[in-house]
Amino acid sequence: MHLRSLNDLTRKELTEIIDKAIEIKKNPKDFSTAMKDKTLMMLFEKPSLRTRISFETGMTRMGGHAIFYSIKDSPLGKKESIEDTAKTASRYVDIIMARLFKQEDLDALAKYSDVPVINALTNKYHPCQIIADLQTIKEKKGKHKEIKLAYLGDSNNNVTHSLLLGCSMVGMNISIGCPKGKEFEPQKDVLDKAMENAKETGSKVEILNDAEKAVENADVIYTDSWMSYHIPEDQQEARVKLFMPFQVNEALMSKAKDDAVFMNCLPAIRGMEQTAEVIDGKQSIVFDQAENRLHAQNAIMLNLMKKWEK
Ligand code: CP
Ligand code: NVA
Repeated sequence: MHLRSLNDLTRKELTEIIDKAIEIKKNPKDFSTAMKDKTLMMLFEKPSLRTRISFETGMTRMGGHAIFYSIKDSPLGKKESIEDTAKTASRYVDIIMARLFKQEDLDALAKYSDVPVINALTNKYHPCQIIADLQTIKEKKGKHKEIKLAYLGDSNNNVTHSLLLGCSMVGMNISIGCPKGKEFEPQKDVLDKAMENAKETGSKVEILNDAEKAVENADVIYTDSWMSYHIPEDQQEARVKLFMPFQVNEALMSKAKDDAVFMNCLPAIRGMEQTAEVIDGKQSIVFDQAENRLHAQNAIMLNLMKKWEK
């Protein structure tokens, strides 16, 4: 009923959502009343461009309504408990999405909510992003099996964690290139789960501390911000030094397959996690990724509300 992380979906459900997203993108008119009379609440503890706009537009396109609710100035669990927030909101709206700092808060919101709760990014996971990315990869490459994705940079983060789960669920190979150390590598529980998925799907999951080795033979090169929303600004200088060997530049792109695509969930900074030549170059598909947030999230909402039928 909820999407707290990709662990909430079976492999079959994940594939169905991706295929539905592709269908919604092709035939949006068929879904123009799918959310008629339904309301989405959007709770935000962190900033956003894509998530906010794509969820709100998504509801509009399906004939529903979305309410933006910022809890920046009234932190969740302080003025009002998470339990009371969830129980109250459930009396008004049909579905909730939340972008929060702590995964535990998102889990608590889901626990006490009577309506589906979607994780729209926590420090630990970003499932909506990765479902949209898997849609994008399927559209560009025609398949997931035998595709290798190389992720470079900060790997103890939400996007890496959800990529590990998502790739291993659909049978894609994933190589992570990141600095050595617990602080920068994926968290153990996520890695263990990805390895378990990989055993079932036959995909390969590896953590490497060498950018060139990670991108060898890759079909997709993916990077994310070195300064995620929750990282304090005073860490920037040290992090830039540490992550620079994992910057995606033209030299690194040339080590991957000739037809490799470049992805970044955005926001991106040119000259940091990738160069301008790469993100603005021919291989970049970052805006297709961004567009697919809209279609993928519509498919997620329809799935959670079991409103597949037109
Ligand atoms: N990729 C993503 O989630 O973007 P926003 O932070 O702008 O929502
Ligand atoms: N890892 C990034 C993703 C932004 C969409 C962050 O948490 O800021």
